[in-house]
Amino acid sequence: MGDYSNMANYYDVIMTSGYYDYEKIVNNLVTHEPLHRVLEIGCGTGLILEELAKRQPHVRIEGIDLTQPMLDIAQHRLQAFSNVSLSQQNVCELALGHEHDLAFSYGGVWYFVIDGDQEPFLVSHIPDDAANHTGFERLSRCVAKNGTLLLGIQGPHHDYETVISNGMLYSQKIEPTPIGFTKHYYLKDGAQTMMAQTVNYRTYTFAQAKDMLSQYGFTYASAQNRGQLFLGFTKS
Ligand SMILES: C[S@@+](CC[C@H](N)C(=O)[O-])C[C@H]1O[C@@H](n2cnc3c(N)ncnc32)[C@H](O)[C@@H]1O
Repeated sequence: MGDYSNMANYYDVIMTSGYYDYEKIVNNLVTHEPLHRVLEIGCGTGLILEELAKRQPHVRIEGIDLTQPMLDIAQHRLQAFSNVSLSQQNVCELALGHEHDLAFSYGGVWYFVIDGDQEPFLVSHIPDDAANHTGFERLSRCVAKNGTLLLGIQGPHHDYETVISNGMLYSQKIEPTPIGFTKHYYLKDGAQTMMAQTVNYRTYTFAQAKDMLSQYGFTYASAQNRGQLFLGFTKS
């Protein structure tokens, strides 16, 4: 479920070749109040947390991720920031010693896809339905009353290939499955395949997602505005 080990060594160069806009993501996070303790679920190599920690040196920032090779890169990247702590955890077994006033996931464990005028749907790196419930239940314990959960918004996935900043060819291929879709990621240097990674995703309609989240105290709180990169849920 959601293991990114094969991709870890190439993750940064793919993502910073225009896949995600980290400055804009953090612009969306820093407007939040209060911002004392923040948790990223599926922090990967720490690209968001680095930008956040630079701008918010006094906020306690925590990141968890399933994939140790991704976290190794994050650890190295964030070693200078004493306000950041990282741990290897599957969100389905999440255990942290304190509550956070903001938890978020951008492209991490869970995110929403919005295709034009259609309703958002939830994408999960966790294929098993019961495990998604367990994950939200564990997460709920780590978010303070009246705290916020932000889940990132992405555009629809499609097949494409593009040359990235190191000259290699990145490509992705999407295949529908009965529970969601499978995404194949490849990186090629000439004829040589440098990286191949397959991730199986489960999807939920917006109604199903809101219902599941509400079972763990998260109520949908924000309509989508232009330029907004997250949908928000308030913890009761
Ligand atoms: C596409 S990366 C996103 C990383 C980071 N948020 C970013 O924006 O660069 C997805 C991350 O979610 C992590 N992940 C997937 N399933 C997980 C789970 N069940 N628990 C914790 N992390 C998980 C993967 O290990 C991977 O590092």
